[in-house]
Amino acid sequence: MNTPPVIGIHDLAVATGSRVLDLADLARATGVEPAKFHKGLGQDQMSVPGPDEDIVTMGAAAAAPILDRHGVAGIRTLLFATETGVDQSKAAGIFTHRLLGLPPACRVVELKQACYGGTAALQMAIGIVTRDPRERVLIISSDIARYGIDTAAEPTQGAGAVAMLVAADPDLLEIPTPTGIWTADIDDFWRPNDSDIAMVEGKLSIDAYLDAFTGAWDDYRAQGGVAASEIDAFCHHQPFTRMAEKAHRKLAEHTGVELGLDTFLPSTRYNRRIGNSYTASLYVALAAVLDSDDDLTGSRIGLFSYGSGAVGEFFTGVVRPGYRAAARRERTEALLDARIPISVEEYRELHRRVPRDTSTDLAVDPVSAGEFHFAGISGRARRYTRD
Ligand code: COA
Repeated sequence: MNTPPVIGIHDLAVATGSRVLDLADLARATGVEPAKFHKGLGQDQMSVPGPDEDIVTMGAAAAAPILDRHGVAGIRTLLFATETGVDQSKAAGIFTHRLLGLPPACRVVELKQACYGGTAALQMAIGIVTRDPRERVLIISSDIARYGIDTAAEPTQGAGAVAMLVAADPDLLEIPTPTGIWTADIDDFWRPNDSDIAMVEGKLSIDAYLDAFTGAWDDYRAQGGVAASEIDAFCHHQPFTRMAEKAHRKLAEHTGVELGLDTFLPSTRYNRRIGNSYTASLYVALAAVLDSDDDLTGSRIGLFSYGSGAVGEFFTGVVRPGYRAAARRERTEALLDARIPISVEEYRELHRRVPRDTSTDLAVDPVSAGEFHFAGISGRARRYTRD
């Protein structure tokens, strides 16, 4: 009998908005102790997209280095996960498909379930590659977290994208079975069709997250998953990094296993600076863990994905020997350092400027440094360019 191929994440890259707001400035402007944001929420900065940036441009920016490294051969599926959809019908992935020059023989679809969509895409991709190991699936998770100005959720905004290539014999992470899943109908966070900012019941969302975590964990164990003591590092979804700390403590309490904070802290390095990136957030955390140590081969990483509404999934990945081949840490640190610092007034102006009305044509100048730009609206449709 043939041994089944190892399937998992072959490559991964991060992108974010080109501007950054220091949360100490937001704290001062809103009369809050900066320590509330730094320690209480575990956040230092938040990325803010420029006027010519959105989920499509960030998603394309994340995927471009992966295609540079591996080409497009074998990619017959592009799964675009987002809860910041730019159209009610057309998948955002179709715009990125063109911008990236992917071949026409490619299925493209958008997936939505709050912050969980990227994990749904990963599980589907594994299914596709299991069926035909010659195929590779490109996943793009891209989101802009937007809440109302002067609300409790305002400091937990952010913007980012992660692209991943799922393939047989992967360089980064094998994703073995089993996986633990959990769903319950809860109104903790949602975005009605007539609103471009999310509605959130913050405290309820924290409780729902923790219930989803223990529920998914119990299912993972019931399906034959390993004990918490056998997991070397954890990535929990990070709407703000302190939430991951709460989840980590909850797992220790729930399992009775002592879990040092050192097994989750490396996962917060980039999210502290990017802010919430919804579907991308868990995979930004994974990027941070993989970048944190040059000796992770064979380590087992636990990943908890949460999407309000609410769905949770817990699974693990085992680090492969080729995981340090591409210089991801240097690239990610450089793109975070290259963001333009903006004032609270400039951030609020950008927050207000997001185009809501498509009935009038709009031209947007390519003002951001990246290669991909939202160029405006004509004929009620969004337009994009690549430099
Ligand atoms: N120094 C240090 N910590 C401080 C502080 C200070 N000066 N002031 C407050 N804090 C701590 C609080 O004690 C609290 O810690 P705790 O969680 O351990 O109790 C934390 O900072 C947050 O303060 P709190 O008053 O509870 O925050 P809030 O009412 O302003 O709202 C959220 C916090 C997360 C509910 C809000 O930002 C939100 O709704 N965010 C979006 C929803 C979200 O991300 N949900 C997560 C699941 S998806």
